[in-house]
Amino acid sequence: MAHPHRTLRDDYQDEPATRVDQKKGSAPRRLPAFLPTETVMPTVSYRAPVAATTAPVAAPKPPPAPVQQKFVPVIEECSVIEQLPRAPRATPPEQPVSAPVAARGELTVVFGCRGGAGSTTLAINTAAMLARGGKSVCLVDLELQLGDVCVALDLEPQTSLSAVAREAHALDAASLRRRLVQHGSGVCALTQAGHVDDLDPALPARLPLLLDTLRGHFDHVVVDGVRDFGDVSLAALEQATRILVVVTQDVPSVRRAARALSLLGRLGIADARCSLVVNRAVRRAVVDDAAIERALGMKIAARVREDGRVAEALDAGALLVDVARSRPIANDLAEVAALCKVKEAPRASEPRRGLFGWLKKGGV
Ligand SMILES: Nc1ncnc2c1ncn2[C@@H]1O[C@H](COP(=O)(O)OP(=O)(O)OP(=O)(O)O)[C@@H](O)[C@H]1O
Ligand SMILES: [Mg+2]
Repeated sequence: MAHPHRTLRDDYQDEPATRVDQKKGSAPRRLPAFLPTETVMPTVSYRAPVAATTAPVAAPKPPPAPVQQKFVPVIEECSVIEQLPRAPRATPPEQPVSAPVAARGELTVVFGCRGGAGSTTLAINTAAMLARGGKSVCLVDLELQLGDVCVALDLEPQTSLSAVAREAHALDAASLRRRLVQHGSGVCALTQAGHVDDLDPALPARLPLLLDTLRGHFDHVVVDGVRDFGDVSLAALEQATRILVVVTQDVPSVRRAARALSLLGRLGIADARCSLVVNRAVRRAVVDDAAIERALGMKIAARVREDGRVAEALDAGALLVDVARSRPIANDLAEVAALCKVKEAPRASEPRRGLFGWLKKGGV
């Protein structure tokens, strides 16, 4: 809960963009053998030029890139965002050899505005809701080092995101499905977690084609693990038909949402593609709906209430839509899933106003 003397407006004064992780309090269900390796991997929260994105990917493996001397904290440097070299990432070196797929599924990015906002919870349960509705769904975990989508679904992936991305140009429907791990709900999943040693420096360059391929074969692609504006995140954000901006009822989360929305605007991503989702919503919060909407100049599209069964479900590797089917939170999740069906239920954007307008003029 926010300090009573702290207001949203006060808090928009800039502060270091240190990521605050308020992760699950409970112990993990099981500790995989790769844990020690993964725990020493650095978290990529900085963006630096990636030489491999412009190098031919098909060529023999290049020598390791020189250690980057200067890192730029992207979330703080809007001017850097505007200079992002976007074309090379959108032009993967390989040409598709399989027949182009006519269908083009929707791509939903779940953007967590702070660690522990609940993006994985929303991503897996939204994906399951869509699958229960008869849609084919692929869940992609872009938290490359420590993604927990497959842990939350109790799945053991046999292959990695990088490996599938390397082959994306040549995959037909059957060979693609063989490479994905499938949950009992019907949701297919793709992650790098557990295969960190196979993490490919060319992944950002290959990701647009991979996502495009997945959209060719699935009605919905749901992406978790996006909470910055690095190369990997941008590849997903650029293709997103819906971005669920997940906030909680606290000042840091809303502040980050304001920055994220501003940066998305600067990247040319229309307001209409963004939907504000309040997770862990409780009545009589200090930072209530009105305060959030006023601060962000955007209507809340959906609320997912606080429910103790969420942690239980995550620990058990179960879906909320299974363990809390008759609880009100199931209806909340259905509303979130409805936001992803852009083609079926287009939503008009809300005009931004108030503080957001001020922020867009240079406040972020
Ligand atoms: N609606 C909710 N009600 C109660 N608890 C919730 C709710 N949503 C998420 N949580 C809890 O919050 C914690 C974080 O959830 P989750 O892992 O989904 O967040 P995240 O944004 O993916 O976190 P990370 O930043 O680590 O990826 C978990 O312990 C989960 O049980
Ligand atoms: Mg997560």
